[in-house]
Amino acid sequence: MDLDLAGKRALVTGSSSGIGAAIARMLASEGASVVVHGRNRERTEKVAASIVAIGGKAVTVCGDLADEAQIAALANGALDAFGGIDILVNNAGGSAATDDKSWFGGTAATMLESYQSNVIAAFCLIKALSPAMKERGWGRIINISTAAAITPTSGQPDYGPAKAAMINMSLGFSKSMSQTGVTSNCISPGMVRTEGVRDFLASFAQKRGWGDDIAQAEAYVAKGSGQTVKRIGEVDDLAYVVCMLSSPRADYINGANFHIDGGISPAIH
Ligand SMILES: NC(=O)c1ccc[n+]([C@@H]2O[C@H](COP(=O)([O-])OP(=O)(O)OC[C@H]3O[C@@H](n4cnc5c(N)ncnc54)[C@H](OP(=O)(O)O)[C@@H]3O)[C@@H](O)[C@H]2O)c1
Repeated sequence: MDLDLAGKRALVTGSSSGIGAAIARMLASEGASVVVHGRNRERTEKVAASIVAIGGKAVTVCGDLADEAQIAALANGALDAFGGIDILVNNAGGSAATDDKSWFGGTAATMLESYQSNVIAAFCLIKALSPAMKERGWGRIINISTAAAITPTSGQPDYGPAKAAMINMSLGFSKSMSQTGVTSNCISPGMVRTEGVRDFLASFAQKRGWGDDIAQAEAYVAKGSGQTVKRIGEVDDLAYVVCMLSSPRADYINGANFHIDGGISPAIH
């Protein structure tokens, strides 16, 4: 199926690695021009170069979303890159928790940092980029939350609550853009195989006495978290859904939160 993404212009925040990089690559392979973003210039340029190498269109804009001036610079840089942005994927973020990931290991500083890089950054970018989408009568806002937003965990109090706010903001914004052609949806992933998750599984396997048997750790974690799918997620599992939601064919989907989590969701939502 042609997703009709040729000629669309996308900004994917946090696309210098992990899920964001996969989203940027897949949107580009579907014909979109992509602004690749990250803090680490080398990684960001590597992702953009990999897109250009296979005939895609990509440019880079770097910046730390913890800093409002850099968020504004990112919005302006992205608008300048291709003369406008049609698709905004607020993917950058994660937990600010350091070594102590327990609930009491959280601090006011980590709470603020997570809220800033997840919620406030997304809020500011939506505010900066969506008015032009509304004027053109078409646009896509896609926010990346987490399964932990609706199924809270016992640790990392900075993370789930901030990501839950993103789901709320996403639905609220879809109402504010009612009847405009601009849609706003959210995706809540379960555990996805990124570098960070690979490291986590490796150390989990060591702690359990399984040595380098990451597959055993993966199966244990997938089952223990209540997944009904046997494997953990791959970055492309998320990228497919972002491409689908980005497509003009998804005009009828608005204000939704997609649980892409191997069936973790404990109830009907
Ligand atoms: N992996 C999972 O299992 C999982 C599950 C649920 C939800 N998620 C969510 O999915 C999103 C992507 O996660 P991931 O696992 O792919 O993470 P990742 O591999 O660690 O990548 C995170 C990306 O976000 C960027 N980033 C982080 N903080 C930033 C900041 N303050 N300013 C600018 N850029 C920032 C990073 O840039 P640099 O590296 O260049 O600094 C990187 O490009 C996150 O929002 C995460 O919460 C992930």
